Amino acid sequence: MNKSVLEPEVQHYILDNLKGDLPQLLLRKSPFSDVSMQEIVQQIKGRKVAEKKFSFLCKEQIYFPPQLNLEQASSESTGQYKASLVAGASMVDLTLGMGIDAFFIAQNFSSVDLVERNKDLLDIVAHNWSVLGKKASFIHSDLMDFLENNTKHFNLIYLDPARRDNQKKKVFLLEDLSPNIVEIQDRLLSIADRVLIKLSPLIDIAYLVSVLHSVEEIFVVAVKNEVKEILVFLNRIKRNASPKIIAANLDSSEPECTFYFDAISTAQSHYSEPEKFLYIPNNALLKTGAFNWVSEKFGLKKLHPNTHLYTSDEKTQDFPGRILEIESIEAKALQKNEHYNIISKNHPLKPEEIKKKYKLKDGGERYLIFCQSLKNKYILRSKG
Ligand SMILES: C[S@@+](CC[C@H](N)C(=O)[O-])C[C@H]1O[C@@H](n2cnc3c(N)ncnc32)[C@H](O)[C@@H]1O
Repeated sequence: MNKSVLEPEVQHYILDNLKGDLPQLLLRKSPFSDVSMQEIVQQIKGRKVAEKKFSFLCKEQIYFPPQLNLEQASSESTGQYKASLVAGASMVDLTLGMGIDAFFIAQNFSSVDLVERNKDLLDIVAHNWSVLGKKASFIHSDLMDFLENNTKHFNLIYLDPARRDNQKKKVFLLEDLSPNIVEIQDRLLSIADRVLIKLSPLIDIAYLVSVLHSVEEIFVVAVKNEVKEILVFLNRIKRNASPKIIAANLDSSEPECTFYFDAISTAQSHYSEPEKFLYIPNNALLKTGAFNWVSEKFGLKKLHPNTHLYTSDEKTQDFPGRILEIESIEAKALQKNEHYNIISKNHPLKPEEIKKKYKLKDGGERYLIFCQSLKNKYILRSKG
């Protein structure tokens, strides 16, 4: 961390160039002898990310870390959500990173230990927390060494493991993360009441339940219907063979859904051809895989075992997802250049292919759903 970046004239230069062309800026000579253009651009990029992702850091004297740390950091809204789930006397975040999660979670604890192996990043976060008036113990250590030497007991351990590589593999395992949670889970629970682990939305829930010993709850967290993270609580005492699953869609008015893991395999669906209303569960609920539970819980009929759309003649309120009033139409009813939000569920044509084939445009108020029931293929159009 270069403290000269915090000098008032450098801070003004950063604010004056927030809208500047960054590649062009990088070609210029820095006006400051002790601050490089790369350092200035790092601050501009950080500030821009912060405006969208964690606006509480858009303050004078805040120092932004390199791009990778910004990308790995949680957003303000998911950090706040995590904070709403935990409280106690003592906590430790073993993978501090940029400290966004820790910043919110720490509000509910009186003793806060923060561990990070990247010294420069730790110094940056310690500086930012002092600007923000927050207190904690900042510990520069590999978490394995910290665990080795630790003598304290914590109410909560928080971990947001980093991916070992940056390849976006479709499926990945806990072994691909640093730290390897499978290996250290028992050790963590020997010094904490609860462990909260943040994982990628790509991870499979059944896999988690099979490899972790003491899962209490699993949260699927979406923001505006985009699944952002999976949160797993391990509990030292409450070992649950069928953990609680919670699907939450933040920044929406949709209700949270809570059920037990068993329900994913034990619930039964009723099936029907499309009726008056069509229900599309939100992506957090879809990610849980509790497709039959949705039918049971909301008294809705499913179109087909592999079509995760539901239907009813009477409108069901408080559904965690989209409710459309629909009509079934023939392909010839589709007019060229009409605007639709196109959805394809368990249908041979993908939305892009549908758009091309019927010369349709994206957008507008109405939905067009290509799907199949147990008996037929359908084109359903929302009214309105
Ligand atoms: C995904 S980031 C955490 C982001 C953080 N939750 C936030 O909101 O800003 C993971 C961090 O864990 C750190 N880390 C990974 N393995 C570690 C280890 N064995 N010991 C200490 N820190 C580690 C990495 O350096 C990285 O900064």
